[in-house]
Amino acid sequence: MEPSRKIAFRIAIIYLIIGVLWIFATDYASLLIAKQDLKLYNFFQHYKGWIFILATSAGLYLLVYSRTKRILHSKEKLEQKEKELERSNEHYRSLFHHNPDGVFEADSQGKLMALNPEGELIIGYKESYIKGRDALEFVIPSEWEMASALFRKVIAGHPQKFELTVRNRLKQKRILRCSLLPIVVDGEIQGVFGIGRDITEFKANEELMITTEKMSIIGELAASVAHEIRNPLTSLKGFVQLMSSTRKLDDQHLDIMMSEIDRINLISGEMLALGKRQDVVFRKEDLLSIMSHVMVLIEGEANMKNVMIQLEDESMDMMHIYCDQNQLKQVFLNLLKNAIEAIDDSGLIKIKLSSNGAAAMVRIEDDGAGMEEERLAKLGEPFYSTKEKGTGLGLAVCFSIVKRHKGSIRFASTVGKGTTVEVEVPLAK
Ligand SMILES: Nc1ncnc2c1ncn2[C@@H]1O[C@H](COP(=O)(O)OP(=O)(O)OP(=O)(O)O)[C@@H](O)[C@H]1O
Ligand SMILES: [Mg+2]
Repeated sequence: MEPSRKIAFRIAIIYLIIGVLWIFATDYASLLIAKQDLKLYNFFQHYKGWIFILATSAGLYLLVYSRTKRILHSKEKLEQKEKELERSNEHYRSLFHHNPDGVFEADSQGKLMALNPEGELIIGYKESYIKGRDALEFVIPSEWEMASALFRKVIAGHPQKFELTVRNRLKQKRILRCSLLPIVVDGEIQGVFGIGRDITEFKANEELMITTEKMSIIGELAASVAHEIRNPLTSLKGFVQLMSSTRKLDDQHLDIMMSEIDRINLISGEMLALGKRQDVVFRKEDLLSIMSHVMVLIEGEANMKNVMIQLEDESMDMMHIYCDQNQLKQVFLNLLKNAIEAIDDSGLIKIKLSSNGAAAMVRIEDDGAGMEEERLAKLGEPFYSTKEKGTGLGLAVCFSIVKRHKGSIRFASTVGKGTTVEVEVPLAK
């Protein structure tokens, strides 16, 4: 029964019961009074109706008064609550609608529920189009696995921050810096909110800086690499001249020739690999092998300056890291080139590889000129260089590449004694 009908019914029943009881009670009282006092009986008969009307009117008045007061009070409270709800809804709508970042809402299955105007601009689709679609539809396939894993963490109650590449309506890739957080209602996670900032242009500039600096390193290494190739070529030429005059083949000479050709092949192969234009690809790589490739490229430069490079591997196991190997090679080349350039004439550079179980560490120690505190504080600032022909981008690029690999770089230096650089990158699980 609906509440208002129930209340009316209850009042009617109470009225009926009181009425019936009144009739019975007054009839019985009349009987008793009539036996004793006729005058009093007449008086009672005359006024009992009036007494009933007065009493029930007072009762009804009190009942209706208290009921309506309670109803009006709760109505007021309800209106107040509604206003509060409306206000907090408006707050939320402002945050959602006017957010300068793209904001979306997805249910616990990853189906999109809402998208704000900035989000529509980034992705190029209207909110009505994306509603009900799987959020992964807009993520590039190579990042599906990562995105799903992060989504699961958020659904388990842990907010996440990460970079994600999506494809817009024009099939262009956009890189977003995303935050995902759970939507908790009544203590239960009902879905996720996502906030994404388009950092594609910023990334493109960073990429351009890395590529420019890589090309400049290749240019700078070219002379020493050409030099490195000339030595085996000279010995090859000597053997060929010998063979043409004696017209005889010597197995030992052939072996040397073969190994010289292998060396030329190795050096030019490394140079070509580094110079190749490639998308940034993260793969599981062996750190020692990356370092050996770097050594091939930098040895010429070191030889020209009489610098010896020692490579020591102190790790117990193979150290696998998840990285873009070309970018990491660029980091170590930059650091080694700086170390060589800090050495005036002849010196020693020690490279030590080690691991602490969670991260791999590369320590590059030179016995060059070193640097004072002020210079140490400026390392990594783009265009900061103390060299006549330096671009000052070397370390800036190292910092940004290492950050991309979730690692860190530390410098320690003493003027006149040398510099130590430690690069730490997480080991692949
Ligand atoms: N191992 C080192 N020993 C002494 N000084 C160093 C060392 N590494 C870096 N520096 C100082 O840091 C500065 C910035 O280094 P960075 O590699 O960014 O630029 P650069 O070497 O000057 O130029 P580029 O790398 O473009 O050739 C250098 O100019 C140098 O003064
Ligand atoms: Mg440099």
